[in-house]
Amino acid sequence: MISVKDIKVVFGRGTPLQKQALNGVNLTIEQGSFVTVIGSNGAGKSTLLGVLAGDVIPSEGQVLIGKNEVTRKSTAARAGLVARVFQDPLTGSCGSLSIEENLALAARRGEKRGLAPALAGKRRDYFRERIAELNLGLENRLKDRMDLLSGGQRQAVSLVMATLAGSEVLLLDEHTAALDPGMAEFVMNLTQKIVAERKLTTMMVTHSMRQALDYGHRTIMLHGGEIVLDVAGDNRKNLQVEDLIAMFRKMRGQTLDDDALLIG
Ligand SMILES: Nc1ncnc2c1ncn2[C@@H]1O[C@H](COP(=O)(O)OP(=O)(O)OP(=O)(O)O)[C@@H](O)[C@H]1O
Ligand SMILES: [Mg+2]
Repeated sequence: MISVKDIKVVFGRGTPLQKQALNGVNLTIEQGSFVTVIGSNGAGKSTLLGVLAGDVIPSEGQVLIGKNEVTRKSTAARAGLVARVFQDPLTGSCGSLSIEENLALAARRGEKRGLAPALAGKRRDYFRERIAELNLGLENRLKDRMDLLSGGQRQAVSLVMATLAGSEVLLLDEHTAALDPGMAEFVMNLTQKIVAERKLTTMMVTHSMRQALDYGHRTIMLHGGEIVLDVAGDNRKNLQVEDLIAMFRKMRGQTLDDDALLIG
């Protein structure tokens, strides 16, 4: 479970660039629930994920992950609780290490032991099995450097990495945005499978209104650092992509000429 209470985030306080990125966000997500997050550029989506992951410390409010109060804990201190996949396939893994070294590091997230014992015996077999499930043939390339993989392959491996430390929370920040449509669909199907199998509490930021409605159980929209829409169940089922676009338009107070971009 994730619980975020009255979160406020101010960047650059006291400078001409001061920006209130989150302005009193309250949100509770039950264990195993998959929430999609939408909102225009600068709405505060990545900041909210940062507050959960620990790289943004809020000026006010409280963050709970399960029973753990983590509001002021560092990313390292909560690494065993939260896993993340980013938009840029290069961000979530280390290009100069092999696939299996990356997997070993991910499995050790939140622990302080070295790399070598992690690769011994059974663990290596387990990694091979998990990578084989992707059906990308990467199980035969475990010793290849990560930077030899395509962006899509790398995101698929990043998703497997995100599940290895046993954390219950998965944060996805536009993790398919840099992929071609075929690979984006592959990674989305994989995401759905992993989230369901492992009952992960998931937040997925997307600019695709279609993805936002097609995946997960609930959709929230952020605007100006506040939650302006929170729908689940039948209310969500009855929503169309066009309805979301109309809400975007209303929020921005302007006419969009690029509606097509949002349908994606
Ligand atoms: N580290 C930072 N320092 C200063 N301002 C920041 C920082 N991070 C974010 N901001 C500002 O806070 C606001 C919210 O940013 P955020 O990245 O959360 O938006 P977003 O909803 O993820 O947008 P996008 O769709 O473009 O990714 C923006 O105005 C942004 O410029
Ligand atoms: Mg963002």
